[in-house]
Amino acid sequence: MSKITKAIIPAAGLGTRVLPATKSMPKEMLPIVDKPAIQYIVEEAAASGITDILVVTNRGKGLIEDHFDRAFEMESNLLKAEKESAYHNIVDISKLANIYFVRQKETKGLGHAVNCGRSFFKGEAFAVLYGDDVVIGDTPATKELIDAYYKYSQGVLGVKKVPADQISKYSSLKLEKIQNERNIFRCTDMIEKPLQDEILSLYSIMGRCILTPEIFDILDSTSTGAGGEIQLTDAMRVLAKTQGMVAVEYSGTRYDMGNKLGIMQAQVETALNHSQIGDDFREYLKSVCKNLK
Ligand code: UTP
Repeated sequence: MSKITKAIIPAAGLGTRVLPATKSMPKEMLPIVDKPAIQYIVEEAAASGITDILVVTNRGKGLIEDHFDRAFEMESNLLKAEKESAYHNIVDISKLANIYFVRQKETKGLGHAVNCGRSFFKGEAFAVLYGDDVVIGDTPATKELIDAYYKYSQGVLGVKKVPADQISKYSSLKLEKIQNERNIFRCTDMIEKPLQDEILSLYSIMGRCILTPEIFDILDSTSTGAGGEIQLTDAMRVLAKTQGMVAVEYSGTRYDMGNKLGIMQAQVETALNHSQIGDDFREYLKSVCKNLK
């Protein structure tokens, strides 16, 4: 089995849930304290052994390309001002991985976005990291999924449990626990945005998966599903039923940077642990909480 060294980050959505912030700025560039969401995602991929990343973009996402490029004027100014640490911080961003870009010319859904990467993967298995799902934890989530891929030789879904009243906004998975595994399941069925009587479990796909190259032919024949979009979940359902898939309940905390509450949760929790502002922010938050009703 070949090593997984390539990943795709779909980042061509419209971000309508975070308007007006996303009118001209990609939601993937929204900062969590001082770092854009997509940098956390690229860092997770790199820490998982990924060397080559294809980012799917569309109109107005040029800021993402600039962020992973060198910025010579800024760099030389930082050096002149003897701000060595800031200099290294920004140069290092451009060295995280080889990053490539492809345009999704029409916003036809996550499945359609992943299908834009067909020629990049040349018959290899690859990781998918959804561009608005940031996962923070001690072990990179993508690494946990890649390890499961090496063990079971099947596509892998990164999953989390969601509250019952929220599941209709996500996908729902039919899972069976694998003996002697703490957090790995077999996945035999799945559905995107289930109605009440279609719920298979409260486990949902949360922003990460490992796919085998067969997914591309399946995507070619996947018709539009929930929301009038080509849904990756519908294609993965076929993969699960034909080849089998496993699901890993990864250990990190997942933040949904595609909705306002998720953004604030990411900000507050990251700020509390931040090396520069953590202590001051904790005091500030305590003073705010004292007056909360
Ligand atoms: P979402 O459905 O959360 O993104 O897709 P969205 O369309 O931006 O959401 P709204 O408008 O707020 O409802 C999950 C991920 O898939 C990407 C998004 O950028 C996001 O990272 N995506 C989605 C694409 O790349 N292309 C698409 O056509 C749809």
